[in-house]
Amino acid sequence: MSMTTKELKRKYLEFFKSKKHAIIHSAPLIPEHDPTVLFTTAGMHPLVPFLMGQPHPLGKRLADVQKCIRTHDIDEVGDETHTTFFEMLGNWSLGDYFKKEAISWSFEFLTSKKWLGLDLNRLAFTCFAGDKDAPKDEEAASIWLSLGVPKERIAFLPKKDNWWGPAGETGPCGPDTEMFYWKPNDVPAPKKFEQSDKRWVEIWNNVFIQYNKNKEGKYELLKQKNVDTGLGVERVAMALQGKTNIFEIEVFAPIIEKIGEISGVKQNNENSRSFRIIADHMKAATFILGDERGVVPSNVDQGYILRRYIRRSLRHLRLLGMDLTNANSTIEISKVVIVIYDDYPLLAEKKDFIFEELRKEEDKFLKTLDKGLKEFKKIIEKGKIISAKDAFLLYQSYGFPIEMIEELAGEVEGKVDVAGFNKEYSCHQELSRKGAEQKFKGGLSEASEATTKLHTATHILGEALRKVLGDNDIKQKGSNITSERLRYDFNFDRKLTSEEVKAVEKEVNKVIMQKLDVKREEMSLSEALDSGAQSEFGTKYPSKVSVYSIGEYSKEICMGPHVKNTSELGKFKILKEESSAAGVRRIKAILE
Ligand code: SER
Repeated sequence: MSMTTKELKRKYLEFFKSKKHAIIHSAPLIPEHDPTVLFTTAGMHPLVPFLMGQPHPLGKRLADVQKCIRTHDIDEVGDETHTTFFEMLGNWSLGDYFKKEAISWSFEFLTSKKWLGLDLNRLAFTCFAGDKDAPKDEEAASIWLSLGVPKERIAFLPKKDNWWGPAGETGPCGPDTEMFYWKPNDVPAPKKFEQSDKRWVEIWNNVFIQYNKNKEGKYELLKQKNVDTGLGVERVAMALQGKTNIFEIEVFAPIIEKIGEISGVKQNNENSRSFRIIADHMKAATFILGDERGVVPSNVDQGYILRRYIRRSLRHLRLLGMDLTNANSTIEISKVVIVIYDDYPLLAEKKDFIFEELRKEEDKFLKTLDKGLKEFKKIIEKGKIISAKDAFLLYQSYGFPIEMIEELAGEVEGKVDVAGFNKEYSCHQELSRKGAEQKFKGGLSEASEATTKLHTATHILGEALRKVLGDNDIKQKGSNITSERLRYDFNFDRKLTSEEVKAVEKEVNKVIMQKLDVKREEMSLSEALDSGAQSEFGTKYPSKVSVYSIGEYSKEICMGPHVKNTSELGKFKILKEESSAAGVRRIKAILE
């Protein structure tokens, strides 16, 4: 076969290694310290603190393969190029090289016979057209020209197309230059690039992050100029494998085949949308359940998206005419996903958990799916607008996610009173349903200020627990920080008394009041462990690490970021102490 995705990933990392980049691990799909998104949506996401100026222990040039989920593309899934789960290849310069190197390397990797050898005749490039915030990117365009790209194949587009970074919020951002591939094999690429021609598929993006958008909406220059690139593995593989449909490449074809096999239906023009939706969603569901920070189906946050993926897949299998009774169809599909992605060994390690959760969710939904579909038919026959009350009935009694009700209605040109549904919903629930990917209203840099403080507080908390409970074996078993609160899991086999909780709180506040400096050092992993620095249970660390010390009080291996002095933290308050799993306690706390 022409080049597989595995080969592509290997070549990319080898190429950037030859350009002196350190290779870093894919971060989990579920971010630990970032409340702005439910899932990691790009390789740059886990790197935001380093793009803002914090030094990275592995240096100024990084590259990786990152698993990503972008749910805002969910309605596009079903065509030939969109998926919500994908792998992204990325290379970064943290205040090191800039446009010239980034663009020349992208060009070399894509076109050189030694690397991908894509035909320059099928490539086009776009650059930022300029506006009141930043100038036209003549520099990027002239670099493409100097490499032999014809002028007609370079287009200048406005901010909405050629700018990457926070929309209407705060955070690092800058102009980008995007690379497009001419998809058809039977029609030669036109001389001139036209943005409206969707046969040009975006395959790679180089972002030149040099601004921070502040609270006043001004673009201020960052301390350092960075490069952030993202190459879509599946789309480039499509080009390399001579396909015009992403679902035909080797990381999708066996899944599509399996869906055909278990449903007993052949893929055709009418039903291919369902095949593609099921394939994408079951891949995403398998990766969410099999993530380092795996979650289970629920009605909030990532758990809700996971539930939607599984239930929508079941609905589309039903639409294909499949008899779902006792079929365990989602497990059958997930098995294929795990085999394809053997370069993510955690999936195979967690397969019992993945299958068990799929089985439970499938059982739950299948009890009501057919009855719910009948009810839906009755409702839609009454009129094309589904009332809030009817939508809520479908949600509550039959477990139909609101997005599924909208999809069902859309298929018969009906509509749903979603605003009314949301009102009805919030009257019935304490927790809010967060269907949207964007979770936090403030921007990245505001959120990162709040989470940085809470992050430093978790280090003090860990040490305070060891001191107050007199148990040096207490270790962090997981942590999750939003801009509002911290959540800290640790091994301990009983409930804390209320006196102990108070004492821990007091101890943390005492350390905060001591105004201790927070210091960062770089060392080898063995030096760090020998020095007595704390490490998180079960985490794989690189050979070179950062160690953060808070005065003489605490010392931990950690990527950061942290505040400079504990006096920045404010008052620490424990909201809750509860059990999280057998032998694991959980503390939720805030800074006031
Ligand atoms: N952040 C940019 C993107 O996601 C490049 O990685 O397209």
